[in-house]
Amino acid sequence: MRVAVIGAGVIGLSTALCIHEQYHSLVPSLEMEVYADRYTPHTTSDGAAGLWQPYLSDHGNLQETLWSKETFDHLLRHLGSPAAKEMGLFLISGYNLFTQPVPDPSWKNIVLGFRNLTAKELELFPGYRLTQRGVKFFHKKVESFQEMFAQGVDVVINCTGVRAGELQPDPELQPGRGQVIKVLAPWVKHFIITHDIKSGIYNSPYVIPGSEFTVLGGIYQHGNWNEENSTQDHKTIWENCCRLLPALQKAKIVEEWSGLRPARPFVRLERETLRHGHFQAEVIHNYGHGGFGITIHWGCAMAAARLFGSILQEKKVAGPPQPRL
Ligand code: FAD
Ligand code: BEZ
Repeated sequence: MRVAVIGAGVIGLSTALCIHEQYHSLVPSLEMEVYADRYTPHTTSDGAAGLWQPYLSDHGNLQETLWSKETFDHLLRHLGSPAAKEMGLFLISGYNLFTQPVPDPSWKNIVLGFRNLTAKELELFPGYRLTQRGVKFFHKKVESFQEMFAQGVDVVINCTGVRAGELQPDPELQPGRGQVIKVLAPWVKHFIITHDIKSGIYNSPYVIPGSEFTVLGGIYQHGNWNEENSTQDHKTIWENCCRLLPALQKAKIVEEWSGLRPARPFVRLERETLRHGHFQAEVIHNYGHGGFGITIHWGCAMAAARLFGSILQEKKVAGPPQPRL
């Protein structure tokens, strides 16, 4: 059984890991391969601020909230492990600031200690109110699903992010261009994300400390495919973030990065059987994670692994996976 995952961002790698973890002992013939034309540090996933935080409203998409919860719980289990440092994993507190009252987010009971800001905290922001397993890797561009099947792959896992439309047209998938400035500001220990409801999600300034650098952002341009940094966007981010946190004026800029969020009304996570005459092949799509791919990756990877299990059962290659202890 040959399985080809296309994509080596957070979605492709976690999906490959989930499938391998759960099925390699059940299916001795399982051969896993990862195909990608961009590897770390050149994927969208590398540039992400890296914060676990879903969009403020899930628009009633309970499934995405559940996958995000599964990811949060997975990350929490790794927090005390020796791998935490390598994963860049740590707990952080911070503020989400709104110019007008908004309902509590769907994920308020998932995080540890969600609460509304106190009056004293609000005074800080005048102007704001509430609220190595044998998997083989190939550095190459895949031109079509057929190309994979023609070379003997049994199942393709499509984790191609914003470029999924190149393999199969998807008018619902659009780039949500972002730009960030990474600075050395080790004194920042608390994230601040502002929300200007009029300009849309992540289009107003945010400051998010990471394990090495602090990420300054606040650009979201729907439909813009440009991966080059823009001087205008640099100015906007810098001025807005320095206004939010004046101490940043002294921070050394270490990197500037632009990336494309794979924006879609909802994540595409489903099986599809592709037919060509008598020939039939299985694809599992796992893309369209917008500005929350880090937040939701593990839940989606587990769901993709379950879909893979259903293919194995149909092909009578294996029974259901053993529950993990
Ligand atoms: P990618 O990381 O883009 O990986 C796609 C992979 O597919 C690449 O390896 C690429 O080479 C491969 N590929 C595509 N087409 C082909 C092909 N035809 N042949 C071969 N390979 C192919 N999310 C959060 O949860 N928290 C955050 O704090 C956060 N901050 C962000 C900040 C910014 C500025 C941006 C832009 C995004 C942010 N995100 C955040 C969103 C997150 O980065 C994305 O949702 C996530 O990276 C998507 O992961 P992916 O694996 O689908 O895509
Ligand atoms: C983003 O820019 O997409 C983003 C920023 C902070 C948290 C999550 C996503």
